[in-house]
Amino acid sequence: MRPRTPHPRRLNGRLATAVVTGLLALAMATPASSDSVAAPDAERTREYEVTGPRTPTERTAVAATGASVDAVRHGSVVVTADARQAERIRRMGYALRVLPGPPDRRDGRAPVPFDFPPADAKYHNYKEAMAEVDADVAAHPSIMSKQVIGRSYEGRDIVAVKITNGAKKPPGRTAAKPEVLFTAHQHAREHLTVEMALYLIKEFGSTYGKDARVTKMVDERVIWVVPDVNPDGGEYDIATGSYRSWRKNRQPNAGSTARGTDLNRNWNYKWGCCGGSSGSTGSETYRGTGPESAPEVKVVADFVRSRIVGGKQRITAAIDFHTYSELVLWPFGWTYDDTAPGMTRDERDAFAAVGKSMAASNGYTPEQSSDLYITDGTIDDWLWGDQKIFGYTFEMYPSSGNGGFYPPDEVIDRETARNRDAVLQLLENADCMYRSIGKEAQYCA
Ligand code: ARG
Ligand code: ZN
Repeated sequence: MRPRTPHPRRLNGRLATAVVTGLLALAMATPASSDSVAAPDAERTREYEVTGPRTPTERTAVAATGASVDAVRHGSVVVTADARQAERIRRMGYALRVLPGPPDRRDGRAPVPFDFPPADAKYHNYKEAMAEVDADVAAHPSIMSKQVIGRSYEGRDIVAVKITNGAKKPPGRTAAKPEVLFTAHQHAREHLTVEMALYLIKEFGSTYGKDARVTKMVDERVIWVVPDVNPDGGEYDIATGSYRSWRKNRQPNAGSTARGTDLNRNWNYKWGCCGGSSGSTGSETYRGTGPESAPEVKVVADFVRSRIVGGKQRITAAIDFHTYSELVLWPFGWTYDDTAPGMTRDERDAFAAVGKSMAASNGYTPEQSSDLYITDGTIDDWLWGDQKIFGYTFEMYPSSGNGGFYPPDEVIDRETARNRDAVLQLLENADCMYRSIGKEAQYCA
């Protein structure tokens, strides 16, 4: 397997370790780029298949080492772990098998910095994604606008696209239009999610006035799309022409050479409460120094809070797109229980009813997120627990059985269009999620 190519800064503080393992590491180093330095074995992060864990509790214990659990199968999981985390998992009595690193899509030509390799050219890097957004907004100015809602740690714009026909009012409704939020790319290596967001923007723009369901939703809802929550991580992941399997943002951590916070453990609801994130800076699931310590999370959370108008949160439903495993997940992640303080039986049932209906259309598996393993500080728990927004997590293609964060660009069209109906379903339910359980009169009168 090709060693990863860490940022040179990472090596400085590890000089002593590097000297010890240096010869071995150098022998295995790839000459791919000039700043490419082999990580000492002890801190090299790789993907493993772990055979043995088969219950949520067992998987939560694996995650508690600080590894990220990337896929859940029957009786095994796929993790991203450094050598220490891998050793801890081994000592739990599980068998580990090293998986191949990210695919090598280089074609022999010199890589273009911060661009996808030629074989994956249909993926949009940050600049291309922003250009695509601008082109769509320019082509459909009567229903679309773009806002810069804030900046990433490295200063990139985080944008929200607003899609609605402001001239139309829902029939028989005096209240404001229900709003629905779609977010993508909290995790850097999950590039297919940016394509999902771009697909939605393009699809709503180009089929408005042609497709009856789309037209009705653009008229009667306010649709928000935040196509890139973690632009710094995404650009870092593709910067050298060889994918880096990066997950977190690119914020430095005081007193540590390890960079990055796991954005999806940094939200301000039961942050760090329950063993579903890590306090170690080097961990794949590092939760940050405090809730919203990652600027990207603060930006999106501030945006969501800005939709509270007259004391009422206008956003009623949301999907946060991830890869991979083909799942429709709903909260809570912090507890195994279906209902808990902050989640009544009817609320849970409405989550499950709409979640199962969406999953029936895209062929994903619907479940509560903690059926996988415990997480805390995730966006969906915050959206519901703090804002009472029906927030789902979609884990997109591929399935957990034939895993990978880097599907070839040939699948983009199919795997984004696959979620068209599910997205429309959520929009159609967003005026009264309780209709799905036959309790519209009780909750939505
Ligand atoms: N794989 C994602 C992550 O580790 C989703 C975990 C599921 N839990 C959740 N609350 N969405 O962040
Ligand atoms: Zn993710």
